[in-house]
Amino acid sequence: MNENKLYKTLRITNITENIKGFKIFSFDSDEVLKYKAGQYLTFIHYEHNEEIRRSYSITSSPVLNESLSVGVKRIENGLFSRLLIDTAEIGDEVKTIGAGGIFILPDNFENYEQVFFFAAGSGITPIYSLLKTVLDGYKRVDVVLIYSNASYEKTIFLSELKEIEKKFPGRFHVKFLFSNTIELSKARLHRNLIIDLLKEFSIAEYAQTLFYICGPEAYMRLCTYTLQENDVPKSNIKREDFVINAAKKRDASPPDTTLHTAFIRLNEEMFNFEVHYPDSILQAAKKANVVLPYSCEAGRCASCIAKCLKGKIWHSYNEVLTEKELEDNLVLTCVGHPVNGDVELLIRTI
Ligand SMILES: Cc1cc2nc3c(=O)[nH]c(=O)nc-3n(C[C@H](O)[C@H](O)[C@H](O)COP(=O)(O)OP(=O)(O)OC[C@H]3O[C@@H](n4cnc5c(N)ncnc54)[C@H](O)[C@@H]3O)c2cc1C
Ligand code: FES
Repeated sequence: MNENKLYKTLRITNITENIKGFKIFSFDSDEVLKYKAGQYLTFIHYEHNEEIRRSYSITSSPVLNESLSVGVKRIENGLFSRLLIDTAEIGDEVKTIGAGGIFILPDNFENYEQVFFFAAGSGITPIYSLLKTVLDGYKRVDVVLIYSNASYEKTIFLSELKEIEKKFPGRFHVKFLFSNTIELSKARLHRNLIIDLLKEFSIAEYAQTLFYICGPEAYMRLCTYTLQENDVPKSNIKREDFVINAAKKRDASPPDTTLHTAFIRLNEEMFNFEVHYPDSILQAAKKANVVLPYSCEAGRCASCIAKCLKGKIWHSYNEVLTEKELEDNLVLTCVGHPVNGDVELLIRTI
C-alpha cells in the first residue's frame, strides 16, 4: 500500500467565521504543500471504518504570503462540513491527499487581457484565490467579478473584496447582486443582465478573455449558455462544480472489454495491476490496494487526472476535461478504461 506517502497531515492554525455558517480554516504542515490558485484540497475522514472524501477550495493565493486556507459552508445534515464547522478546533489535525483540480489559470495566461469571474454564494471560494492571484501576479490583466448572494449580510468576503477594489482601482470591477434587492431586474442574474454586464465591462476580444464560473448547477448553466450564445469560445469558459451526483452511465460500452494491465507511475513509484471491464482504472487500483488520488469518482472534479503515456483510454463519462486536454492525453482514472491494449499513466501529486 502506498497510502502513507500520498496522505498528508495538516494542522489547523486558525479558524475565522466569515459569515454565519461559513468558516475559513488555515493550516500548516511539516512539508510545504504546493497548490495552484483555483485548486481544492481533498480531505479524508473515516466514518464507521469507511473512508469518505470531501473537497474544499483553497481561498489563499500561492503568490501572496498567505497561510494555506480553505472556506467551508455548513451544509444542513452534511457529514463532514458540520464536523468542521461545529467541532474543529485550532491544533486539530486533518488528512488530505493534497491539492487537485483544473479550475486554474492556463499556462499561457499572459496572452489574455481580461478575466470575468461569475460566482454565487460559496462558489466565491476558488474564485477568491484566482482573482487575488491575477491581480497581484499579472499586472496587465483586467478583472471583473459578478457576485450573486441572497443578501448583503450573507455575502462571503464582502469587506475583503471591497478592500481589494480600493487597492486596484480601474483594474478590478465588482458587481454585487443581492436576491433581496427591490429592483428585481438587478436582483438575480438572468440572461439579459449577463449581456448588459458584458457590454458594460468587456474591454477585449472574447478570444483574449477567460470566464470562470462557480455556483449552483442552474446558475452555471445559465452563465455558460448565455456566454456561448454571445460567441464566447467554449474553451474560454471554465466551471467548478461543488455538488457531485453519481456519474451518468453512457449507453455505449467500450470498444474492447478484455483484461489489460495498467502501469502507473505515481510520483517516483511504479505500480501495475490488471483492469477488467466494468472496473475503471481507479476501481481496479483500489482492489489491488494501490492508493491513487480521487474525490468524486464520477468524472466531474478532475482529482484523479493522469497523463496517458502509452495506450488508449475510453471514458464512460467526462464533464471536466476539455477537448484540448483530451488531445493532450489527459485522462480520468475514475471513469477511464484501457482499450486495445495495456496503458501507462503518469500521476503527479507533488
Ligand atoms: C471540486 C469541489 C470543490 C468544493 N469546494 C467547496 C468549498 O470551497 N466550500 C464548501 O463549503 N464546499 C465545497 N465543496 C463541497 C464539499 O466537498 C462537500 O460536498 C460539502 O461540504 C458537503 O459535504 P458534507 O459531508 O457536509 O455533506 P454530505 O453528507 O456529503 O451531504 C449532505 C447533503 O448535502 C448535499 N450537498 C452536498 N454538497 C452540497 C453543496 N456544496 N451545497 C448544497 N448541498 C450539498 C448532498 O446532496 C446531500 O444531500 C466542493 C466540492 C467539490 C467537488
Ligand atoms: S475523482 Fe473526480 S473526476 Fe475522477
